[in-house]
Amino acid sequence: MRNSGVNSNMTISFFILLFTVGLIINLGACQNECTESHCGDYGPPIRFPFRLKDKQPSHCGYPGFDLSCDRSNNTVLELPVSITLFVTSINYKSQVIQVFDPDHCVPRHLPKLNLSSSAFIFQEPYQCDYTLFNCSPAKRDLYYDSIPCLSGTSHHIFSIPSDSFVDSLPLTSCTKLYNLPFSVPYDIFEPNYFLRLEWSKPTCNRCERRGKGCRLKNNNRTNSETECFNVKRNGTVKKLVVTGSFYMHSP
Ligand SMILES: *[C@@H]1O[C@H](CO)[C@@H](O)[C@H](O)[C@H]1NC(C)=O
Ligand SMILES: *[C@@H]1O[C@H](CO)[C@@H](O)[C@H](O)[C@H]1NC(C)=O
Ligand SMILES: *[C@@H]1O[C@H](CO)[C@@H](O)[C@H](O)[C@H]1NC(C)=O
Ligand SMILES: *[C@@H]1O[C@H](CO)[C@@H](O)[C@H](O)[C@H]1NC(C)=O
Repeated sequence: MRNSGVNSNMTISFFILLFTVGLIINLGACQNECTESHCGDYGPPIRFPFRLKDKQPSHCGYPGFDLSCDRSNNTVLELPVSITLFVTSINYKSQVIQVFDPDHCVPRHLPKLNLSSSAFIFQEPYQCDYTLFNCSPAKRDLYYDSIPCLSGTSHHIFSIPSDSFVDSLPLTSCTKLYNLPFSVPYDIFEPNYFLRLEWSKPTCNRCERRGKGCRLKNNNRTNSETECFNVKRNGTVKKLVVTGSFYMHSP
């Protein structure tokens, strides 16, 4: 009688324990799918509002903040329309992402870049409207530097601020190509340019500054409301499971 009582108690404890551990592991899995990740061992930390679109469900990120890893573990941001850039750093407190063009020619992308359909704006406060000119190589006595990655042996491409007095410049052997449709950072034509893009929505910096995490309210991407929550980084799940097995040994 006594023995069977102990046995059934133990059986019940055992099932409660299994259930608890199962529940904890499940909770862990739910939270884990959105935890911070990165591409390879050295990529910048990726967390909300960003997500890795191939590895994490859509509610882990905010619309427009999808990143991916390429085969060489580069962190890839795609901007409209079809501009692939590599991410070097993400500052979650100031809400700035720094990217560069893997082909080292940001100017090549400018004609089709449409930031207004993205979540980002240029962070550089000094911006300029530019007109691009195609000049024969003979005329290199300009006050401006050519854009090396767009120029060839038989032609030089120049970017000239649209409000310059172009008539006073020796542009006789030049033809106008196009005006850039929007203002760009004044130094964007420099070789090996690192582009810094800023986002204002969602405003997760208020969470980040308090050392908290940020996520979608109700895990609902269409809702687009965000909230701060307490994060315990460095393997909370493991600690909870250890607590579970301690309970098993105690009776
Ligand atoms: C990418 O990162 C993974 C995980 O750290 C590593 O095993 C792999 O060798 C890396 N691949 C390259 C091409 O660096
Ligand atoms: C950029 O995208 C916006 C929103 O999708 C669109 O209204 C606008 O026409 C686009 N601009 C260009 C130059 O394509
Ligand atoms: C998400 O939010 C939208 C708009 O508030 C609502 O219509 C929809 O039912 C929500 N979906 C879920 C799964 O809660
Ligand atoms: C996580 O662990 C790393 C190294 O073990 C440590 O540098 C970092 O401060 C820890 N982060 C938190 C939030 O405890």
